[in-house]
Amino acid sequence: MARFRVGFIGTGRRREHGGPQGWAMAYQHAAGYHALSEECELVACADIVAENAGAFAQQWGKGHDHVYKSAEAILEREDLDIVSIAVWPQWHAPLAIRAAQAGVAAIFCEKPMADTWGACRQMADVCREHGVRLAFDHQRRFGRPFRAAKEILESGLIGALVRVEFGAGNLYDYGTHNFDLSSYFAGERRALWAIAQIDYRTLRLAFGMHNENQAYALWEYEGGGFGLASTGRGARLVDCHNRLVGQEGEIEIGRTGADVLRYRRYDGRSWQVVDCQGDGLHGPGYVERAVADVVRCLREGRTSELEAENALRSTELIFACWESARRVGRVDLPLEIEDNPLEDMVGRGVIQPQQDAK
Ligand SMILES: NC(=O)c1ccc[n+]([C@@H]2O[C@H](COP(=O)([O-])OP(=O)(O)OC[C@H]3O[C@@H](n4cnc5c(N)ncnc54)[C@H](O)[C@@H]3O)[C@@H](O)[C@H]2O)c1
Repeated sequence: MARFRVGFIGTGRRREHGGPQGWAMAYQHAAGYHALSEECELVACADIVAENAGAFAQQWGKGHDHVYKSAEAILEREDLDIVSIAVWPQWHAPLAIRAAQAGVAAIFCEKPMADTWGACRQMADVCREHGVRLAFDHQRRFGRPFRAAKEILESGLIGALVRVEFGAGNLYDYGTHNFDLSSYFAGERRALWAIAQIDYRTLRLAFGMHNENQAYALWEYEGGGFGLASTGRGARLVDCHNRLVGQEGEIEIGRTGADVLRYRRYDGRSWQVVDCQGDGLHGPGYVERAVADVVRCLREGRTSELEAENALRSTELIFACWESARRVGRVDLPLEIEDNPLEDMVGRGVIQPQQDAK
């Protein structure tokens, strides 16, 4: 079996502690491909910071002739099957489009999809036109708490799904995971509308992108069921990474102070804890599992659940919530804007986040 030739755009620099200025996610991608060494060959990497690319190459065993300073160079000189993109969100769309045009078979791109709603759709369109599989690292789908919650829901134990809820730091940088999981639990159905209010008084840049300090959002899924999100200070309202509210019971994932997954029926039974065998909200090994799914789907000609069609459905809600704040009203979907409403409001001075006093 011929191995897939894998290349990396944006290697990052390994730090002891990651954060919104850099996690070096490419290292986690690489660990995923490395674990599939019979199927994947790590052939090259590129980073605009030469020492970052050099250190990555050293870690994953590539010689200097396979280390590049630009995406253009790696795409031009290496015949890649799979490209992993782990740069900040503003560059996801242009680099994915460039890779699709260069003829790769699959792209595994970091979240959030892109910096504007127009760029999200454009990267998906170009990849579709070129027959390129475009997947995003919404890796939590592969964690046992989330998988098991979905199984409990589908078993009918809590009855029909009435509402999905999440509490998070924000709607975009981290919230993209929660929206993605909400769609997963709602059976990948599209939303009909969204209404939200946001507060952005203190500057919060994550990977170079603005994120609101607090939001409260409501949306409705086609075919029934609502979504509810509360971020920042209001996240404690939900106090769960995800809560699934059914007609006959509820499931809580990541409730503060509780086991990672529990459920109860409303007919008087107490909470039942589900053993997730050491899996938490963030791992271990979720990115590796996401990589494995993308590789397996490419090999078998199947569509990964991480691919653009699903990611678009959940990402649309992020931009729809910010658009609702901009319009001061409900936003009916599909969302017909091109830009990023939060960036726009900050750019025009409608919202003026201040530097933290600290
Ligand atoms: N899935 C998750 O749970 C998760 C966690 C953290 C970060 N992320 C996402 O991962 C992405 C990357 O974040 P990170 O923390 O790995 O970033 P990072 O800063 O650690 O690494 C990014 C690297 O990209 C390089 N770069 C920038 N522009 C480039 C270009 N045009 N061509 C080649 N290299 C370029 C930079 O020099 C840097 O080394 C972000 O979108 C972030 O939101 C995802």
